Amino acid sequence: MDQETKKHTVAKAALNFIEDGMIIGVGTGTTVDFFIEELENVKSRIEGAVASSESTNKKLKQKGIPVLELNSTGDLELYVDGADEATKHLHLLKGGGGALTREKIIAQASRRFVCVVDDTKLVDRLGRFPLPLEVIPMARSAVAREIVKIGGTPEWRSNYQTDNGNAILDVHHLQISDPSSLETLLNQIPGVVTNGIFAKRPADVLLVATESGVDSYT
Ligand code: 5RP
Repeated sequence: MDQETKKHTVAKAALNFIEDGMIIGVGTGTTVDFFIEELENVKSRIEGAVASSESTNKKLKQKGIPVLELNSTGDLELYVDGADEATKHLHLLKGGGGALTREKIIAQASRRFVCVVDDTKLVDRLGRFPLPLEVIPMARSAVAREIVKIGGTPEWRSNYQTDNGNAILDVHHLQISDPSSLETLLNQIPGVVTNGIFAKRPADVLLVATESGVDSYT
């Protein structure tokens, strides 16, 4: 089974968590794109969706799914999103698509976070994939110098702006042995808006597509 088929399979499996009348938080990325395709088939059962990016917003609207604002929905029952890396402890590394801030906001505001990945994303320890940091543009170099002090190698994602008008630093070579502590530490650096470690608010359910089906971790 190729990676695209696995992404589609695991995205479809997330439909099992939908209950009638729900407002669903919808993440960003190629795996979630398959979820949006599948969501179209059950759209009459849901009240609407909250989008984690402008790109997801557009795709949901194209499928005729009502897009609501988090400011008016209150907390959500369900959030479905992908990840760049995931562990069996349900810690995630996210932000390859640059939507990490809105994704983290929606994850925090959701009672159940179902993360959908294929088995290439499952790791024993986070950090092989460069860790994205969303930073205020004028703080980019200052934050980069702080990152070097803690052993990381920051790389500016040039010619890229987040939906919030900020920059992204992709940080290589960080040892993420304690994801929750590093998440907190990075948040203390002035100019960092969000980092891509999702450990303080991890997934509640991790669905992993493999050659033989979909494994579930809780
Ligand atoms: C976007 C993300 C995505 O969830 C992550 O990049 C995975 O994307 P894909 O499903 O395309 O592999 O965090 O900011």
